[in-house]
Amino acid sequence: MDWGIENRLSRLIREDGRCQFLPIDHGYFQGPTTCLENPSKTIDGLLPYADGLFVTRGVLRSSVPSHCQTPIILRVSGGTSIIGGDLSNEGLTTSIDEILRLNAASVGMSIFVGSDYEHQTLTNLARLVDECERYGIPVMAVTAVGKELEKRTARYLALSCRIAAELGARIVKTYYCDEDFDTVVAGCPVPVVIAGGPKCETELEVFEFVYDGIQKGAIGVNLGRNVWQNPHPVPMMRALNAVIHNNATPPEAFELFEELSKGQ
Ligand code: 5RP
Repeated sequence: MDWGIENRLSRLIREDGRCQFLPIDHGYFQGPTTCLENPSKTIDGLLPYADGLFVTRGVLRSSVPSHCQTPIILRVSGGTSIIGGDLSNEGLTTSIDEILRLNAASVGMSIFVGSDYEHQTLTNLARLVDECERYGIPVMAVTAVGKELEKRTARYLALSCRIAAELGARIVKTYYCDEDFDTVVAGCPVPVVIAGGPKCETELEVFEFVYDGIQKGAIGVNLGRNVWQNPHPVPMMRALNAVIHNNATPPEAFELFEELSKGQ
């Protein structure tokens, strides 16, 4: 692997081989998402606990301090909205010049396998990999399903993750699934990071799926709403770090969360 790629990945993935990314990119198709209306307020206090911040260039420039030391994963796909015709009809939205200018450690884009725009999003990924690898920037592929959350089966996720890796993604972000998540990870020759999805009913549920996903081979998480829609986002991130970086069990993480939330 080239030194530049290795160096950037080593800033995102800690020496233990694990990572917690913090996504605040939701506005690129959802607009002012609940608890993300003011992105700088949302991230206040959270950055020290994140191994990477997933964000669009607009929110990076407007809402993230330029002295931020958390590595940036720039969201570089989009062009759709939650009220538009088809969320899968994404294009690349950010040039390689911008990616370099903004000192991104990595870039992320969505692919929509099985959708009407499968070919377009997959060839976008291949093109982005070509451009970014030239400058030593690792690409994270996001296996997106749009509104079709029921697609998140091991069979579908394994197919999507493998295709993303085959096209050159250095990291794949995908959903956790209750059954056979280990086959999703096993079939993907590059590291897998677990995506979040809508907020769970309880914190324990979050710790449980993250713990299980990590035990089954994922290297970390990219959780947004389950962190910053929680009334105690800092304790949430710290408890997740305990699961990810210290192998805390779900009850241990929950106990830590409760302890840290007291008096907040
Ligand atoms: C949107 C994304 C987000 O980064 C992803 O959805 C993570 O956020 P959440 O945990 O809230 O689902 O890629 O397409």
